[in-house]
Amino acid sequence: MLKILVLNGPNLNMLGKREPEIYGSQTLEDINRELKQIAQALGVDLTFFQSNHEGALVDTIQNALNVHQGILINPGAYTHTSVAIRDAIAAVALPTVEVHLSNIHQREAFRHHSYIAPVAVGQISGFGADSYRLGLEGLVKSLQERPVKAGP
Ligand code: DQA
Repeated sequence: MLKILVLNGPNLNMLGKREPEIYGSQTLEDINRELKQIAQALGVDLTFFQSNHEGALVDTIQNALNVHQGILINPGAYTHTSVAIRDAIAAVALPTVEVHLSNIHQREAFRHHSYIAPVAVGQISGFGADSYRLGLEGLVKSLQERPVKAGP
């Protein structure tokens, strides 16, 4: 069974309370519960992790090697600042999909650039909590369609 790591960065533990006009009223728990149901239907296994600390996210990405086959990540504000998270994703070389609740390209200029996008399979941005579902479906499909590596 495909194992996917679902990562959330800083302040996403405050979803529901945090700027609901931008991020909606669903909590991270609500979103994860919905993802679990979708994962069950898709026949994949999810592991959830949220942290407000860059190094904890880097550690968790490194530990995904040989355990998980893909990563779904909302890096929060680290999207726009973190070379370390980008390098960790590049280091483990696990197919990664970047998601955002808000449309980062429609917002302040400092949110337009993503350090993660160049090492991601793709980015889903602007569909609220649905971005996670769309991201998971896209990631699972791309993992299932990957050419099987030829043996030695
Ligand atoms: C976010 C967008 C980021 O710019 C912001 O810092 C967040 C949330 C989103 O999901 O829309 O924390 O990643």
